Amino acid sequence: MSEKYLIAIDGPAGAGKSTVAKMIAGKLGYVYLDTGAMYRAVTTLALEKGIAEDVDTVIELAKSIELKLAFENGVTKVFVDGEEITDKIRTPKVNAKVSDISRIPEVRLEMVRIQKKMGEEGNLISEGRDTTTVVFPNADLKIFLTASIDERAKRRFLEYKQKDVDTTLEDVKESIENRDHIDSTRKVSPLKVADDAIEIDSTNMKIEEEIDLILTELNKLKSRNN
Ligand code: DC
Repeated sequence: MSEKYLIAIDGPAGAGKSTVAKMIAGKLGYVYLDTGAMYRAVTTLALEKGIAEDVDTVIELAKSIELKLAFENGVTKVFVDGEEITDKIRTPKVNAKVSDISRIPEVRLEMVRIQKKMGEEGNLISEGRDTTTVVFPNADLKIFLTASIDERAKRRFLEYKQKDVDTTLEDVKESIENRDHIDSTRKVSPLKVADDAIEIDSTNMKIEEEIDLILTELNKLKSRNN
């Protein structure tokens, strides 16, 4: 029997999706698909080219670029037309624009097409809002990871501090609240909990506990299938 599994993790900004997904990918030797990095890549390029306000040109851009993700040593490297842009995609400027860009239906269609293609191989853990509902509705295991707004803001703020990004906890909280609002009220693929997703509130949990919980669910699934 085939032992290939697809895990999808959804949830709001700063819930710790990528940390958890990366660690599980590392433990299981799965491919890690960071769907947010793809929307960030398109946003970064649109900002660089000064076309971020022009929806038609952004759509053209999303369709014309060759976007590649490589997961190496715990880091998702992002390449656009062969050029690495990994270091440019997680800045406050990109954060402020990415929700607008990811609201464009044609941009989403293009990203989802690439994501589904990556999922065909199996043994993959995908992370990002809509990954359990639109991209991989047939995922073997669906997780909705969340945490309180204060906890999520604190986690993001600490990440920025480590990277020497100049910001305040209040600004980070406001930016997350804005993104939550746009992401959950948008018409196309809003952030929502899939019916068959397992919801994990990580506000008072350690990363190891979250990982244990998810791996336990995966093992239950595997034993049911054997
Ligand atoms: O997970 P992240 O913070 O890197 O995601 C950046 C933005 O991209 C987020 O505000 C919403 C958008 N996004 C999306 O619309 N769909 C996804 N599957 C992943 C991210």
